[in-house]
Amino acid sequence: MPVSQSAVRLTNHLGHDYLRQALENDVRGGLASTPKHLPPKWFYDATGSDLFSQITRLPEYYPTRRELAILRAQAADIVRRSGADTLVELGSGTSEKTVLLLDALAAAGALRAYTPVDVDAVTLTDAARRLTARYPGLDVHAVCADFEQHLALLPREGRRMVAFLGGTIGNLDPAAREVFLKELRATLNPGDSFLLGADLVKDTGRLVAAYDDAAGVTAAFNRNVLHVINRQLDADFEPDAFEHVALYDMRNDWIEMRLRATRAMHVRLDDLDLSVSFAAGEEMRTEISAKFRREGLHRELVAAGFTPTFHYTDPTGDFSLVLAHA
Ligand code: SAH
Ligand code: AVI
Repeated sequence: MPVSQSAVRLTNHLGHDYLRQALENDVRGGLASTPKHLPPKWFYDATGSDLFSQITRLPEYYPTRRELAILRAQAADIVRRSGADTLVELGSGTSEKTVLLLDALAAAGALRAYTPVDVDAVTLTDAARRLTARYPGLDVHAVCADFEQHLALLPREGRRMVAFLGGTIGNLDPAAREVFLKELRATLNPGDSFLLGADLVKDTGRLVAAYDDAAGVTAAFNRNVLHVINRQLDADFEPDAFEHVALYDMRNDWIEMRLRATRAMHVRLDDLDLSVSFAAGEEMRTEISAKFRREGLHRELVAAGFTPTFHYTDPTGDFSLVLAHA
């Protein structure tokens, strides 16, 4: 259902009923599991997106700066190798880094259309408005959608490069990642490309610090999922009664964020007619953030039917961008 919003074209696949049903299913399923867990996509209401933006500026959170460094140095090369004239960006958020790709496309005379895709309609629309103003004549078509559900519904015009930046691929567990990569590959035409940002395995101390910052911004981001559930499902979680936990799981090479109950609690979710108990010290997983090795990334892309074309890394070797073709 396209909606006209002051020069920004917005297609919304996440109507109120859809979102509500998806949240209800995820919360019911996650709270009934042992251990309890919640999917990270529910962090991102307008407050969660704002907290994430703050995270990207924290001294401990290196991924955004490292990916920016790669894009500053390599955007022209990426654009040339991609052959694209249309950029589709999954989990686009504020689209801040994207400007480097759009500028490079414009400089190459190949900037036709930009499709940012995100679950947070507020942040998505703001970003689309900003970019419409910055690039007069650019066809900006924002799509509010879930990249785990709606890839087949994204616009298919143009020679596309699909960008998935920030390391958000790491927020999918390995099985979900495999499905996602195969589904994405199935939507691409010959000549289309995929630009994947992935955080690399590194010193555990630095990894944990990046997800447990001294200022407590990541802790607030983590607890925000409880505020979202309280508001959307008329629940009475006490977010401050949960401690932020970030640990590195070396067997799986991923950061795990959890919320730990500081005391025994009963939580009521009125809209689900559900009561849930937490034991003192019980931990609920709220996010994984997988860290990759170059060979592993290559293998996963090939297994999904992509041909990796070029692998970019920043000078510190912290982060990588892989360009792959369909
Ligand atoms: N790409 C930006 C933002 C990363 S934060 C960057 O690199 O800085 C992750 C973004 O993905 C958020 O904007 C969040 O709203 C969005 N997101 C998370 N899960 C999603 C999903 N399942 N479908 C679509 N967007 C999602
Ligand atoms: C969006 N995503 C890549 C972030 C990450 O690093 O996994 C989300 C995040 N979680 C805590 N800090 C940032």
